[in-house]
Amino acid sequence: MGRRKISVIGAGNVGATAAFLIAQKQLGDVVMVDIIDGIPQGKALDMGQTAPIEAFDANITGAVDFDATAGSDLVIITSGSPRKPGMTREDLLQTNANIVGSVTENVVMHSPDCVIVMLTNPLDIMTYHAWKVSGFPTHRVVGQAGVLDSARFRYFISLELGVSVEDIHALVLGGHGDTMVPLPRYTTVNGVPITQLIPPNRIEEMAQRTRDGGAEVVDLLKTSGYYAAGASLAEMAEAIILDRKRLLPCSAYLTGQYGIDDLYIGVPIKLGGGGVEQVIEIDLTDDELQALQTSADTYREGIALLGK
Ligand code: APR
Repeated sequence: MGRRKISVIGAGNVGATAAFLIAQKQLGDVVMVDIIDGIPQGKALDMGQTAPIEAFDANITGAVDFDATAGSDLVIITSGSPRKPGMTREDLLQTNANIVGSVTENVVMHSPDCVIVMLTNPLDIMTYHAWKVSGFPTHRVVGQAGVLDSARFRYFISLELGVSVEDIHALVLGGHGDTMVPLPRYTTVNGVPITQLIPPNRIEEMAQRTRDGGAEVVDLLKTSGYYAAGASLAEMAEAIILDRKRLLPCSAYLTGQYGIDDLYIGVPIKLGGGGVEQVIEIDLTDDELQALQTSADTYREGIALLGK
């Protein structure tokens, strides 16, 4: 039996980090694709040379065409353009929609049975766009956002309490942006809700730091962060390739759950070999539900801009 095959489109900061971690986890052979000739091949060669040290057998290759991705079980899309000076969010939306659209067509042509995990921003809109273009059933297209946002929230709580990150579980729902919805009521230290351990004002400060988590890194680094985003993709890849059926917050297609229809947004799902195997509806207070629906509303506009 051959190894599973995972392709990562876009061998930039996030794509390469994810590819490296996926190879180290031995989830399967990894193919990176980028439009810049030399980058995916060079990074693949460099990563491959760590295999004897890190002791993994996965093959890592790089290419500029999609033939190399043929028959992938999982395709992660990170290709995109960052916002450049003078560019509006709408310009970026259109630029990345064009990239994601053409990449998705190629992915589907070469790997008609794969699960697609989207990373490119604006995340929830790009996930919707890729799903539309792919013609795939909704469960085989999913977006990464909540795993990263929850990891940030967990990290800040561990710093606050001086407790191992391993014991901290958190849920951050909603869109990947200013309107994301951290849920302190569902955030626990080994089962103990943080609302019993941390005063409300401090929880709100950490929730806000989570919402601003991406910007805080950009301010320092002058570009988007990529270690945590790459690690989040690798965690999702593991859930899918090993059919672990993890309960994770991810951008999933809703058909009326939480009062939201025909939209991709961050909600708790069961992530396994089939992709989104279940959208899990948890009890939300009126305020939490309102925050989730407000978050969803901000993405309808962007999808409308793409003309669906
Ligand atoms: N096909 C393949 N690769 C592409 C294409 C395309 N059509 N268009 C762009 N790329 C590649 C770029 O050449 C670059 O190597 O995508 C890569 C993106 O990498 P980075 O610029 O390093 O961006 P990164 O930090 O990895 O973020 C990836 O996530 O945060 C979002 O939308 C943001 O576009 C960004 C994406």
